[in-house]
Amino acid sequence: MVTITYKKMTADDIAEVVRIHKAAFKNYFLTSLGEKFLYIYYSQYLSKDYCFAVVARADNKPVGFIVGTNSTQKLYRNLYKDNFFKLSVLFLRALFTEKVVQTKVFSRYRQIITAIKSRFSRPPANPEGSATTELRLLSIAVLPQFRGNGISRELLAFFERNVKAGGIKKMGLSVLKNNPRAICFYQKTGWKEDGAGDESLLFVKDLRDRAAPIPKKRSGGPEALERLSTV
Ligand SMILES: CC(C)(COP(=O)(O)OP(=O)(O)OC[C@H]1O[C@@H](n2cnc3c(N)ncnc32)[C@H](O)[C@@H]1OP(=O)(O)O)[C@@H](O)C(=O)NCCC(=O)NCCS
Repeated sequence: MVTITYKKMTADDIAEVVRIHKAAFKNYFLTSLGEKFLYIYYSQYLSKDYCFAVVARADNKPVGFIVGTNSTQKLYRNLYKDNFFKLSVLFLRALFTEKVVQTKVFSRYRQIITAIKSRFSRPPANPEGSATTELRLLSIAVLPQFRGNGISRELLAFFERNVKAGGIKKMGLSVLKNNPRAICFYQKTGWKEDGAGDESLLFVKDLRDRAAPIPKKRSGGPEALERLSTV
């Protein structure tokens, strides 16, 4: 019997979170920057008042996670500022070896400029986009062999309770149009479509006046899964 629990992400989870990311987001730009890059990236979500990160564990080993922030500007600024030289080396190495990075580098030019500015310019006195009551959900993933069992639904409910306790009133995200599984997941978990870009759809979810949804109990799925109340 596998026991599933839901907890805030800690430093001990990061290596597994990187592994889950690699399994869930193959051929994504961020993934192509390599494991070390991902390790630094996900470590940013720990102990920051503008970041929220939770994991689902099966028998104490992470099998899924969600991360989000109420200040993407602070998140990326601090990520690049604190790790500029390490990330630059990893980025340049990937640029010479990874096809995905080579083909997508031009569409990422804004991020590269942000990275350079973060290192060499002073932070604005009153940064636009500083922490708000609106959260951007940046990543959700579950290991392939654990999907379809309601783990993400429960993980999201746990995440919502956490962010609401942190003063968040609304959440937003973008999802690639060519990811029907994730789109279906968001539609089934209370998100509403709120526009579209060339390649992605935007979804929002209002958390006001609403208790975080109580996940549906499933009798199916591996009988092997037993849920514990979240911690
Ligand atoms: C999207 C993802 C997180 C869903 O995780 P999951 O644990 O399988 O989802 P759940 O089992 O909790 O399903 C919740 C709901 O989403 C729907 N859903 C999940 N997978 C689905 C699929 N393959 N097809 C259709 N609907 C699906 C389910 O119908 C379910 O609703 P129900 O309870 O009414 O049946 C998972 O597929 C994943 O990790 N994908 C790769 C990473 C990714 O694309 N993340 C999103 C980036 S924006």
